[in-house]
Amino acid sequence: MKNYSRVFKGTAFTSKSPTEIHILKDYLFCIDDIGMIVKVIAPAEQEYNAILKTYENKVQTLKEGQYFLPGFVDLHVHAPQWAQSGTALDIPLYDWLNRYTFPLESRFSDLDFAEKVYREVVSTLLANGTTTALYFATVHKEASLLLARFCAEKGQRGLVGKIVMDNPDQTSEIYRDADTQTALKDTEDFIIAVNELAKTTKQGVYPVVTPRFIPSCTDEALKGLGELAAKYDTYVQSHCSESDWEHGYVKDRFQKNDAFALHDFGLLREKSVMAHCNFLHDDDADLFVKTGTAVCHCPISNAYFANSVIPIAHLHSKGVEIGLGSDISGGFSPSIYDNARQAVISSRMLEDGVNTSLPAKERGVPNSRITINEAFYFATASGGESLSLPIGRLAENFAWDVQIIDTTVATAKLPIFEEDLQDIFQKIMYLVRPENIIEVWVQGEKVHSRY
Ligand code: GUN
Ligand code: FE
Repeated sequence: MKNYSRVFKGTAFTSKSPTEIHILKDYLFCIDDIGMIVKVIAPAEQEYNAILKTYENKVQTLKEGQYFLPGFVDLHVHAPQWAQSGTALDIPLYDWLNRYTFPLESRFSDLDFAEKVYREVVSTLLANGTTTALYFATVHKEASLLLARFCAEKGQRGLVGKIVMDNPDQTSEIYRDADTQTALKDTEDFIIAVNELAKTTKQGVYPVVTPRFIPSCTDEALKGLGELAAKYDTYVQSHCSESDWEHGYVKDRFQKNDAFALHDFGLLREKSVMAHCNFLHDDDADLFVKTGTAVCHCPISNAYFANSVIPIAHLHSKGVEIGLGSDISGGFSPSIYDNARQAVISSRMLEDGVNTSLPAKERGVPNSRITINEAFYFATASGGESLSLPIGRLAENFAWDVQIIDTTVATAKLPIFEEDLQDIFQKIMYLVRPENIIEVWVQGEKVHSRY
């Protein structure tokens, strides 16, 4: 018998396939000292009782009505925008960026302000069950490093990008990089500093090359960032084919879609994640598959800013890797539960259509719906695969990144009157509120507890 540092006992839900949930009833999860699941044991297995006896003092057993779920992967969050979440959702993307968002982000040159917002957003995401987050910070190198430090300190697996915005035509002087060379030098310094910081963490923090989106960057910056991503083998994130305006802007500038333009600059890589992608054509999607680039679907944000519902089932059927993102504050909610719910709702509206002046047959796009099981898969296993990290599944050789759900909390009790675990899983996905998330663990460490 191996030497485990902890053993957890309880019923867990994890993806078996994109459409199916694996229910592990009363299983044991044996964790090693680096926070990995090294053994998963079913009650019928011989070892089960022996392990329980040997590890008597190290076993954490769930109570009746409590369940393990994998921690969520939020593949697209603007940490500074937490300060304006829930507001400013009344105007189109271009105006929203210029009127509200760039002025807000410009305030992050003030490290005291950055500290307040960044501490809170990391804690808030953890409390909502998000164990891994792919963050946009701002153009400011120091403040962006602060965000990476808070992830390191609070135990969240944070992937953090210092944003690059150097195009004077599409940015204002209150908020842009000083010039292209400074933008690239600051990005390189940032990559080196975060890689150093990572050595002090158990869960890992990662630097991310982050051209905000094509409009805000010069060709020279995009090219330089592609080279930095290759030199340091980093993650890459950006916004891609998000709205009519943005998609059209790129088409005017490059006579091609975002995907091919980004690819020309070396920005579509195995470790690339592109937010939104609502207007991806089939050949763009094929390019994503070929390069290993993932789509981050941000359904709440899309309802405000994307002028469309993304054909997510179609992209998935073409083999594109897909994850979910909150897109705070284009999306108002810090909860991936809320986004999983909206992903299902939006897909149903795309399938049926919404314009009642059209006959039913012409109203929607057939085969567009996804199920809550698929939304869960995007939020967990597929999010992990998008980042090429061993996260998002409760299985051997995956990190112990877990949320413990208590369905019996008095102020948020789930309506569970029967014992069908498939139904209980669906009720959790649709009805859980933050108070039901009683503990959150990342890489074998407890990072949030309600009690
Ligand atoms: N495109 C460029 N920047 C942003 C942003 O902050 N949010 C969203 N939703 N789209 C963007
Ligand atoms: Fe965004």
